[in-house]
Amino acid sequence: MGPFAVSHLLALISLAVALDNGLQRVPPMGWMAWERFRCDVDCQDDPENCISEGLFRDMADRLAEDGWRELGYEYIIIDDCWMSRLRDEQGRLQPEPSRFPGGITKLARYIHDRGLKLGIYADMGTHTCMGFPGTTLDKIEIDAQTFASWGVDYLKFDGCYSNPVEQMQGYPLMSKALNATGRPIVYSCSWPVYLGGLPPNVNYSLLGDICHLWRNYYDIQDSWDSVQGIIEWFSNNQDDLQPAAGPGRWNDPDMLIIGNFGLSVDQARSQMALWAIMAAPLIMSNDLRNLANSARAILQNKMAIAINQDPMGIQGRRLLQEKSQIEVYWRPLSNSASTLVFLSRRTDMPYLYHTSLAKLNYDAGSYEAYDVFTSSTVTGLNATTVFTVSINPSGVVMWYIIPQQKPRQSDTLFDQHKKASQFMFHKPKPGHRNLL
Ligand code: GLA
Repeated sequence: MGPFAVSHLLALISLAVALDNGLQRVPPMGWMAWERFRCDVDCQDDPENCISEGLFRDMADRLAEDGWRELGYEYIIIDDCWMSRLRDEQGRLQPEPSRFPGGITKLARYIHDRGLKLGIYADMGTHTCMGFPGTTLDKIEIDAQTFASWGVDYLKFDGCYSNPVEQMQGYPLMSKALNATGRPIVYSCSWPVYLGGLPPNVNYSLLGDICHLWRNYYDIQDSWDSVQGIIEWFSNNQDDLQPAAGPGRWNDPDMLIIGNFGLSVDQARSQMALWAIMAAPLIMSNDLRNLANSARAILQNKMAIAINQDPMGIQGRRLLQEKSQIEVYWRPLSNSASTLVFLSRRTDMPYLYHTSLAKLNYDAGSYEAYDVFTSSTVTGLNATTVFTVSINPSGVVMWYIIPQQKPRQSDTLFDQHKKASQFMFHKPKPGHRNLL
């Protein structure tokens, strides 16, 4: 390699390091306005629910006072429809003054004072999806600087009203511009959605270098159909998607809709369980001022959250689709633990599913299983023991599993595997994806 090539390579490496600002080693958690509050700008008739500073202050109060923050839910994220229709004289975005009279800086202070962080929304293109001012290529730098000057901690960068060529320039440019502000800002990219979500159109290794998380697929809606469709798409395409995730780089199947109108208690547990398996961001979009206790209990389930936030950051996979319409999902976790989710796609009655850990690829040995939603424990489970779980229609049984004896060697096969996986996240190599 000649000196030019070496210096070129070094420049590339330092660029990659510069963009990897160490944020979001685990999936982000918080609350976002969109799915529940959409583009409600009618503060006359609907003052409690319209997109305004009051709504975000209310949600910040709830996150801070109702135990959410301590569980990790820290971001309050403004979505579309916060902007004025016009930029200011300096060409900067500005909030709609009638709905955000204090401005974003003041709102950011309110949120920071409560130990929380603020996220905001912008769109790579001529307009946001709802028609507010977009961020064209020439506006990327000024918008990044404006957000940083307001104290923003997270940017959701949507992609309506731009073409793939502009997106190819704009998404990396925004990453650099955010980095150049010197403020740590989590960068959520909607880019893959606009390219169909899959390779070869989507380059997941590039995304992992420039974004902390990315939306891959269509918007979630308030229904089980929608949740099911998302789970199905992510699982059908797991060979492409699962290896893309890791600390600092997450697939985003969209918001948690638990606590709204569309899901039964079982379906809500299913969403929480599958989002934990998928190492998905836990970003709720609901009304934290009016939340059923059952929804609160699911969203605040410590074991489900810990599984989602596992520091190893390996996304799980669907292992099996049975003819009986039972599906089994698995995710490896730190300290040789793992999680299994049994999901029923049936619509009749609770189904008795018989299996063993050995059938689900577990090594010989004895294990303990903790049922995440009923808090019961199964001990003395041998890999070969046949056990039965009863799974409600459109519901789950979710197990956290630990081997009962500590493995003898200090550096277990699992640890070696973990190191290999971490390496893989930074330097993906074809052929390594089937390690899991
Ligand atoms: C797109 C995004 C949604 C939301 C809306 C806002 O549809 O995918 O999450 O941000 O735009 O207009």
